[in-house]
Amino acid sequence: MNILLEVNGRPAEVDVAPRTTLCDCLRDELELTGTHAGCEHGVCGACTVIVDGAAVRSCLMLAVQAEGASVTTVEGLAHGGELSPLQQAFRRHHALQCGFCTPGMLTTLHALFTEDPWADEARIRDVLSGNLCRCTGYVPIVEAALEARAFYQQAAGGR
Ligand code: FES
Ligand code: FES
Repeated sequence: MNILLEVNGRPAEVDVAPRTTLCDCLRDELELTGTHAGCEHGVCGACTVIVDGAAVRSCLMLAVQAEGASVTTVEGLAHGGELSPLQQAFRRHHALQCGFCTPGMLTTLHALFTEDPWADEARIRDVLSGNLCRCTGYVPIVEAALEARAFYQQAAGGR
């Protein structure tokens, strides 16, 4: 099936089998391999992308369901070759080790803070509870999230 969608702000057209997941479509058809395929059944969160503003497990969504949607992958977070404030905070706080979970962590947090820049630590931890990390113990991830939150608050015009 031929589908049209927007990926990281650019129009994309792909020809996929009806059973192709959005995750496989992004990785195999569009070569956006920053979206990681981990468990491939909705448990680990590594494949999380943002579809029309909502964090979505791309292993559980068919590519054809994304027809006409706006999709943001981890590759879409940086601008002009510069890491986003969230990505920079991850780097500063050593919020990744192997990095496998990182794209999903970043997209999940980006979706959260875009919707609610004032999300408190409890909410951040709750939202991240759907993203598994086997390396970091989560503490530096939450620290990075709390630091980066200020940039989203600023972008939202402060309170
Ligand atoms: Fe999609 Fe694990 S690969 S949730
Ligand atoms: Fe290795 Fe999270 S950094 S799984």
